[in-house]
Amino acid sequence: MKAILDTKTGITCLQANDKNYYVGFLSDAGVRIYEENPLPSFAIDKVTYAIDGVSASDNGGKAEVSYGNLTLIFSMDMGFSIVKGGETVYVFEPFKPEAKEEDLSLKEKEGHKVERHDSFINGFSIDANLPVYGLGDKTGTLDKRGYAYINWCSDIPDPHEDSFPSLYKAINFFTLFNKEKTLGVYLDNSSKTAFDFNKTDRNKVLVSYSAGSFDLYLFLGNLPDVIAEYTLLTGRTPLPPRWALGNQQSRWSYPDKKTVEEVIEGYRKADIPLSAIYLDIDYMVGYKDFSIDEQKFPNIDAWLASLKEKDIHIVPIIDAGVKAEEGYDVYDEGIRDDHFSKLDGQVYHNEVWPGDSVFPSFLDEHTQNWWADHVAKFLTHGFGGIWNDMNEPASFKGPLPLDVEMGGYPHYLAHNVYGHSMAKATYKGFLRVKRRPFIVTRAAYAGSARYSTTWTGDNQSLWSHLRMTIPQFCNLSLSGMGFLGCDIGGFNFDCTDELMRKWIVASLFSPLMRNHSACGCKRQEAYQFDEETQKIYRATVMLRYELIPALYDCLYLHNVLGRATVRPLVYNFPEDPNVLNENTELMLGDSLLLAPMLSAGEEVRSVYFPDDFYSYASGRLYKKGYQLVSLADEPNCFFVRSHSLLAMNPRGTKTTEWSDTLRLLWTGETAATYHYEDDGDGLAFTEGRYNLYLIKADMNEGLSFSTIHKGMKSHYKTLQLDLINGKSITQEFPKEN
Ligand code: GLC
Repeated sequence: MKAILDTKTGITCLQANDKNYYVGFLSDAGVRIYEENPLPSFAIDKVTYAIDGVSASDNGGKAEVSYGNLTLIFSMDMGFSIVKGGETVYVFEPFKPEAKEEDLSLKEKEGHKVERHDSFINGFSIDANLPVYGLGDKTGTLDKRGYAYINWCSDIPDPHEDSFPSLYKAINFFTLFNKEKTLGVYLDNSSKTAFDFNKTDRNKVLVSYSAGSFDLYLFLGNLPDVIAEYTLLTGRTPLPPRWALGNQQSRWSYPDKKTVEEVIEGYRKADIPLSAIYLDIDYMVGYKDFSIDEQKFPNIDAWLASLKEKDIHIVPIIDAGVKAEEGYDVYDEGIRDDHFSKLDGQVYHNEVWPGDSVFPSFLDEHTQNWWADHVAKFLTHGFGGIWNDMNEPASFKGPLPLDVEMGGYPHYLAHNVYGHSMAKATYKGFLRVKRRPFIVTRAAYAGSARYSTTWTGDNQSLWSHLRMTIPQFCNLSLSGMGFLGCDIGGFNFDCTDELMRKWIVASLFSPLMRNHSACGCKRQEAYQFDEETQKIYRATVMLRYELIPALYDCLYLHNVLGRATVRPLVYNFPEDPNVLNENTELMLGDSLLLAPMLSAGEEVRSVYFPDDFYSYASGRLYKKGYQLVSLADEPNCFFVRSHSLLAMNPRGTKTTEWSDTLRLLWTGETAATYHYEDDGDGLAFTEGRYNLYLIKADMNEGLSFSTIHKGMKSHYKTLQLDLINGKSITQEFPKEN
C-alpha cells in the first residue's frame, strides 16, 4: 500500500488494492476518509483540512497517516485502526453485508409484516460495545445498543414503536460513548443506510450503505466536543425568532379564521399564554401550495398583522407534493421551467393531499431558487414561519420508484436529502425577504439544522409515546438538531386529561413547544381539558415563559459553540455510570433538570440527581443520588443544579417580548452564565446588533457583570437577583450596559 501526502492540501492519497482513497485531518480530533471522487455532499459546504504537521508513511501492506497525537494505520483492504497518544482506541474493518434469505411466507400469511432485506453493497464494522447515542429520531432507548436501524426517510402512520427500523429522518451520525475517547461517526452518504449496534454481533457496530460513495468523518474526544465538531462541519441551528420559543397550538385543521379566533379566545379565557397557531392543509384551495382560501381567510394580511400585534404568529403548512393542474401557477411554471422530478423523461406523478401530484426537484439549485421566490412572496402576507411536511417524500400510491430523477440524482440517492433540500429552498425564501427563518420540517438529513427546526412526526396519544419523547429528543439533539419538538398530547388517537397533564409537564424544555392533533381525534387545546389539567398546563406554560431567556441563551451557545440544547444526563455527567441509559430525565443546558412522571397513575417516582439540585417550586435541596419525588411537592418536576446562575424572565411573564427586568436565578456559591440579547427577530444580529454578557456570582464578591459584545441599547432597566431560597435583590441594570 502506498501513502502519498500532498503537502499543499494536507491530504494523503492511499493506493489500496485497485482503488484510491484519501485521508484529510479536520483537526487533531477529526478526520475524513473517502474514496476517489465521492458524490457531492448535501450536508457539508466546505471542509478545511490541517496542512502543516500532517505526516504519512507506508511500509509494505500498511500505511500510517498522522496529525497531532492522532494516527490512522491502514491495511490493504482499507481496514484501519485509530491510535491516540500511542493507544489503539478503535479498529475498523471492511464489512460486506450478507443477504439473509429465510422463508417467512407462513409468518406473512398470518398477517405479520415481514421486512425484506435490502441490498447493502458495502460498509464497515467497528470493534466496540459502547453506549450509542445519535442517529436522529429513531425509536427505542437512549443507548441504541441491541437495535438495528435503517436510514430511509419514512412516513409510517402506525404507532411508532421500538420495532421500527426507520422514521422521518436520515441522519447518519452516531457516537460511541467513552468519556474522553468518544467516537463520533458520520457517514456522508445519502443512499439508504443500515446500522446494527451490537445486535448481530455483540462486539461490533456494523454500518453499510446501498449506493453512493464511501465518505466517512470521524471525531474523537469527549461527547460535547464530538457533537460540536460534527455540527461545526454540518451546520448548527441558527437563532430562531424569540416568539418561536413560546407556547404553540396546531390542529389538522383550523379550517377558517373564525376557528383560529376561537382558539385564541379559548387560550385567553383559560389565561394561558399563546404565541403561535399553525394552519394545516385546509387553509389552501384544493391543497395547492401557496394558495389561500379567501372565503375562509378573508383579508389575511390585515388579520395576520393584527395578530402579530398581540404576539401571535401564524405558521402555515407547505407540502412537498404540488397539485398537477393546468392553470395553477406553481404547476404551470414548474412544467415550463422543468422543476419537477421525472421518470423515463416524463414528469412523474403520484398522489398526495391534492390528488394527482408532482414533486419539485428540490435538489436542483435552480428549482430551489424558484421555490424560494414563492416562499418569499408568500411570507409577505405576514406569516411567522413555514411548516414543511410530507417531504420524505410521502406518497399515497406506493413509494416513488427508485429511479425517478430528482434534480440530477436518482431517487435512491435523492430520497434522504429531499426534505433537507426543501427546507434549504424554504430557508432561501426567508433570506430573500430578509426575515429570520422559522421553518419546521418533518424529513431531515445531516445538517438540516442549519435550515430548520423539526418535530418527531405523527406520534399518538399513548403513554409509550410520551415516554419515547425523552430518548428521541436527546438523540435528535445529539444528532445536531438544536431546535426540536413533538406533537404535545399526541397527534393521532384521543388524549386523556392525565396524559395531557403529564405530557405538558414533560415538554417544559422542548425548544419547539407545540400541541398538535389530527382530524377525527378529540380536540386537544389546553382549554379542552378538565380544570386540574388546565391548571397544570397554565403553570407549565407560565414557567416556560420564565425560562425563555435561558432557552434563548442555550440556542445561542448551540449556534456559536455547538453545545447541545436539550441533553441526556450523560452529556453533563460523563463520569457517572448511572446515567448512561437514563431514559426518563433530561436536561436543558448545563444546569436545568426535568424528571417528569411518565406513566398513568404515577404520583411519586424515583429521580436520580447526578449532583445536588434544588426544587424550583420550593427551593428544597435534593442531594446527589436517588430520591423519591412526589407530584404533590414537585408539580413541575423541575430542578436547578447547585452552583448555577440563569437568566430568566420575571415570574408572571406572559409574552415572548423582552422584559425590562433581567432576572437572575442563583443557586449559590460560585456560578456564572453567558447571557445573550438581541432584537428577538430580524437579521440585524448577524451584523453585530446584539449584546453578550458574562455574569458571575460569588458568595464573597457578589455579582460581576462584563459585557463581551455591545451592539445595541439593552432592553433591561432592572436587575433582579433571586436566590433559590426565595430571597430577592433588585437593583438598577448596570449603567455601562
Ligand atoms: C401529516 C403531518 C401532520 C399533519 C397532516 C396533515 O400527517 O405529519 O402533522 O397534520 O399530515 O397535513
